[in-house]
Amino acid sequence: MSRQILVTSALPYANGSIHLGHLVEYIQTDIWVRFQKMRGHDCRYMCADDTHGTAIMLRAEKEGITPETLIGRVWDEHTRDFAGFNIGFDHYYSTHSDENRELASKIYLRLWEAGLIDVKTIAQLYDPVKNMFLPDRFIKGECPKCGALDQYGDNCEVCGATYGPTELKNPVSAVSGATPVHRDSEHYFFKLGDCEAFLREWTKSGALQDEAANKMQEWFASGLNNWDISRDAPYFGFEIPDAPGKYFYVWLDAPVGYMASFAKYAADNGLDFDAWWGADSKTELVHFIGKDILYFHALFWPAMLKFSGHRLPTAVYAHGFLTVNGQKMSKSRGTFITADSYLAQKLNPEWLRYYYAAKLNGSMEDIDLNLDDFVARVNSDLVGKFINIASRTAGFIHKNFDGKLADGVANIELIGDFQAAANTIAAHYEARDYAKALREIMALADRANQYVADEKPWELAKKPEAVYRLHEVCTVALNCFRLLTLYLKPVLPKLAGEVEAFLNIPPLAWEDAQSLFIRQRINAYSHLMTRIDPKSIEAMVDANKQNLEPTPAPAPVRHAETQVHAAQPATAIPKSDTPVSDTISIDDFAKIDLRIARIANAEHVEGADKLLRLTLDVGELGTRQVFAGIKSAYAPEALVGRLTVVVANLAPRKMKFGMSEGMVLAASGDAPGLFILSPDSGAQPGMKVK
Ligand code: 2FM
Ligand code: ZN
Repeated sequence: MSRQILVTSALPYANGSIHLGHLVEYIQTDIWVRFQKMRGHDCRYMCADDTHGTAIMLRAEKEGITPETLIGRVWDEHTRDFAGFNIGFDHYYSTHSDENRELASKIYLRLWEAGLIDVKTIAQLYDPVKNMFLPDRFIKGECPKCGALDQYGDNCEVCGATYGPTELKNPVSAVSGATPVHRDSEHYFFKLGDCEAFLREWTKSGALQDEAANKMQEWFASGLNNWDISRDAPYFGFEIPDAPGKYFYVWLDAPVGYMASFAKYAADNGLDFDAWWGADSKTELVHFIGKDILYFHALFWPAMLKFSGHRLPTAVYAHGFLTVNGQKMSKSRGTFITADSYLAQKLNPEWLRYYYAAKLNGSMEDIDLNLDDFVARVNSDLVGKFINIASRTAGFIHKNFDGKLADGVANIELIGDFQAAANTIAAHYEARDYAKALREIMALADRANQYVADEKPWELAKKPEAVYRLHEVCTVALNCFRLLTLYLKPVLPKLAGEVEAFLNIPPLAWEDAQSLFIRQRINAYSHLMTRIDPKSIEAMVDANKQNLEPTPAPAPVRHAETQVHAAQPATAIPKSDTPVSDTISIDDFAKIDLRIARIANAEHVEGADKLLRLTLDVGELGTRQVFAGIKSAYAPEALVGRLTVVVANLAPRKMKFGMSEGMVLAASGDAPGLFILSPDSGAQPGMKVK
């Protein structure tokens, strides 16, 4: 019976590029969706960009554009990257849509009516310079447990402690560098604790993997906290109905984005929204996610759906993280690989799809992309085993039989075995155990290759009396090839399309596994897939390393920001016997906007030998990030709070670690040492230096 299945992948944030870690999930989901479609089910794949929140608001501000412009640009990039990897969404929307605003508001109001929203005043850290409350990730300070410097407001990367941002010692706003103050504000809470009985029941519904259901038990045991779903202005998001200045927290409207994407798609395609999302929907709702966001999808989301009168997820399938060469993806090693950089090397996206599929088994275990193994496996399985079957036999059909397959095959045992595998392979795909499916398929490919090796069509072709045998052998081999293509099609949709064109057949559906491929005329074989050249992998890794190098400037520019050269010629009075650089006019000097700055924060830069990242408070000019090559002379903590002089109108420069928006003045000479300039006491951040 045909099923109706709405499938989603997690909505990627609109503040970053798609990388190979993201692609694990989109490829996993896409394979499942393509498989369901091949089975004849009515399956719709929905996704969208996740566009709200402080990070996106601040990034847009930094780039001097509106958040709408930023998310529009990122949407273009994301959809291009996904298309590049043959991810076949039926609809890719944005959470910043009218549909999402309406649905999020409706769900919230229903939760309100159900008595599940609480309003409470809480104290939070507030940035008095930027006039905004600070999310945990935008506060840094000393760990309350171990005293480590420069830790985020939610947990310590040194000792692993978790805590609230108000517990940090000497907190500093990462937005402006100011010292945050405590400020009260009313917040809206979703009473998750009141949903516990329902959630305990739902956990048993079979929607979750065993590992996830066990995790739920741990969460129940430690108690369900009510969930803060509001944020104060300024915030890029949706204002909460009847709560001016309060916005839905990005995670409230993000999953609603699944619905909103479908709502728009349904309106455009004449589908009945309620038949898919109403409480009595007969359709399936399947969410693919990473294990890090299980809490949102297994607790908040089903509770939100249930108590707003909607249907519940049929399944939430969590996968693990991606490691590259056995380690966390790393920018300095070049293994933080963007989708775009993979495609830019002209690497075939289906190689990656195949490799991921070979590793995915439907569990929450992490998967490793070992780049050497990637090359070896793809070359051996896809080119050496699969494509080889066609490349060794198709030519004879053309040369000797005018492109036409035999009218029948006497011995169809091998083909029968291939056909009989359809159900087992389908069961593995259904269970998301693609690794098993591919093992099964490659075992068949081995058998087909063995058959060709045993029958030796190249020898048969030399013997006129063996012409019928030759025709039959090549026809059997191409039947095997067609069936392997069918089984691999969810993983390799583009290649399968090319094979369909070559075999001159309509798009393969799963039920085609039971038919024989005879009498038909095929097209001439032309090369279907090349081997991976390990050099292009090296080039890709290098390109990702280079992302971290300073952007080449037209002329060598010191990024040390350590010399007083910018200002020195005009301020130093040359002695008559000293060679002097060209003089400049007072007007030239007036072009340099020198300001007093307070070093609000100073921190080490991962991977940089000489640089410190300074956050400068430049009074009326706001805050600036500057990379200064003074690490050899100063410990970051010794700088925080000091006043210095900055060239404030230096054009911002993109460096490998981010933008440098000015230059701090320091003295250096033949004698060792670096000395940053400081004004006399009384000077204030923002004052002009003349
Ligand atoms: O973790 C993330 O990347 C989120 N943007 C995922 C959101 S999934 C859904 F709930 F929208
Ligand atoms: Zn600590």
